[in-house]
Amino acid sequence: MNDAVLSPPPHGVAGGPKVLLEVFGCQMNKLDAELVVGALKRSGYDFTDRDEEADAVLLVTCSIRDQAEHRVHSHLGEISVAKRARPDLAVGVLGCMASREGESLLKRWPALDFVVGTRDFPSVATVLDEVRADGTRIVAVDGSPQVSEEREIDVRPAKSRAYVTVMRGCDKRCTYCVVPNTRGLEVSRPMEDIYNEVHRLVDDGVVEVTLLGQTVNAWGRGAGNSLGDLLERLEELDGLRRVRFITSHPEEMDDRLIDSMANCHKAGLFLHLPPQSGSDAMLRRMARGYTADRYREIARELKARIPGVQMGADVIIGFPGETDADFESTVELVEEVRFSQAFLFRYSPRPGTPAWGRLADDVPDDVKRARLARLQKIQAAIQEERHQTLIGTRHEVLVEGQSRRNPRMLFGRNLAFDRIVFEGEPSWTDRFVDVEITDSTALTLSGKRVEVVPAACP
Ligand code: SAH
Ligand code: SF4
Ligand code: F3S
Repeated sequence: MNDAVLSPPPHGVAGGPKVLLEVFGCQMNKLDAELVVGALKRSGYDFTDRDEEADAVLLVTCSIRDQAEHRVHSHLGEISVAKRARPDLAVGVLGCMASREGESLLKRWPALDFVVGTRDFPSVATVLDEVRADGTRIVAVDGSPQVSEEREIDVRPAKSRAYVTVMRGCDKRCTYCVVPNTRGLEVSRPMEDIYNEVHRLVDDGVVEVTLLGQTVNAWGRGAGNSLGDLLERLEELDGLRRVRFITSHPEEMDDRLIDSMANCHKAGLFLHLPPQSGSDAMLRRMARGYTADRYREIARELKARIPGVQMGADVIIGFPGETDADFESTVELVEEVRFSQAFLFRYSPRPGTPAWGRLADDVPDDVKRARLARLQKIQAAIQEERHQTLIGTRHEVLVEGQSRRNPRMLFGRNLAFDRIVFEGEPSWTDRFVDVEITDSTALTLSGKRVEVVPAACP
C-alpha cells in the first residue's frame, strides 16, 4: 500500500502564486497532501503541474524504506539545479522525511527553504508566505498531536471517492518501522467529527470512503469505542455505499470488528491485514504481538463469517536473522491464506527504529532478492488461480476512470477491492456499472458491461 506516487495536479484559485505539489508514500500522505492543498487554496495559492511556471515546489515525502528517501534526495538534486537559474523558487519538504530529518535536511540541501512535519502541515501557508516574503529558512516539526483535520470537501481523488483520517500516529513499536518516529503517538478522532465529515462528503457526491489509520482497527480505544461502532454509525448514512478502512493490525483484531463487517453491507469485502511474516521467530523479533497460528485463526474466522471476503497482505522479506526455514514459514502462510493482493518488501534498515543498530541486516541482498522473486511468483499463481474462478461472475464496479494504456477501457473496483477493466464510455466514471468477468491474468480481471446503474452519483 505504499507505492510512491506522483499526485495528479490539484486545481486551485487562478491567479495566485503557483505551487507544484508532488506526493510520495502511502494514502495517508495523499490525504495530508489534500489537506495541504485546501490550506494553500484558502490562502490564495494556485496550483500547476508544470515545473517552469511554479513559484514553489513542495514535496510530500515518505521515509518507510531507504529507496523512498533516495528518490526524494535525487529529486532535490534536480530542483537544486533548477533553482540556480531561478533563485526565487521556494522549495519545501513536507511529510515523514521532514519529521524524521528536520533541520539536517536544510543543512544537506542549500536550495531547500523549509521543512514542515506531519503534524505541522496546517501551518504550511504561513510558512510559505514567510519564505516568499523575506527568504528566511524555516523548520516546523513540533506540531501538536491534535492536528487540525479542516478540509476542503472538493479536494479529493474523485467525485465519488474520498479518504478520511480517523486516527493519526501509531502506538506500536514494530522494530523495523519508522512510522512512530515520523507520525508520533496514536490519536483517534471523535466519532461525530468523522461522521460529520463523511456526511458532508456524501452530500457532495461521495459514495465510497476509505478510513485511514496505521492501526485503524484500534480506532477509538481511548474513548471506549471500536471500529465496529464507527462502521455501524456510517452504515446509517443514506447515499454512502461503501466504507473501506486501512490498515488493520492482527493484534487488534477482535470478534466485534468481524461481527460488524458481517452485518454492515457497506463495509466492503476486503480486509488489509499485513502478516509481515509467517515465522514466529521473526514475528517476535519484529515485536508484532501475534503468532502465525493466531493470524491463521483470524483468517479462518473472517472467511467463515463473511462469505466472499478477501484479505490483503504486506510481507517483509529478509528481516534480520531470517533463515531459509523462517522464509518457508512465510511461504506456507501465504499459500494457506491465499491473499487477493500482497505487497512484498525487502527489509530496509531505518535509522531511529528499534532494530537500527541492534539487529544486523544480515540477510545478503541476493538472498533477499531470490526470496522476493520466489514469493512474487507464488503470489502471482494464487491470484491467477483465483481470477480464473471469477470468470462468468457479475460484479458491481464503481468506475474510477479510463485506463492509461487504452482510453477505450475503463477501470474500477468491486466490493472486494478487485480492480476490473472493461470497455465503456468515459462518462460512466464515478458511477456503478454491473460487469461480468470474461477474462483474467494474474494481475488483471477484465469483463464486459452488463448494466450501468443510472445516476448512482449526482
Ligand atoms: N501500519 C501498517 C503499515 C505501515 S507501513 C501496519 O502496521 O501494517 C507499510 C508496510 O511497509 C508495512 O506493513 C511493512 O510491510 C512495510 N515496511 C515498513 N517498514 C519497513 C522496512 N523498514 N523495510 C521494509 N518494509 C517495511
Ligand atoms: Fe509501523 Fe507497526 Fe505502527 Fe504499522 S503498526 S505503523 S508497522 S509500528
Ligand atoms: Fe506513509 Fe511513508 Fe510516512 S508509508 S506514514 S508516508 S513513512
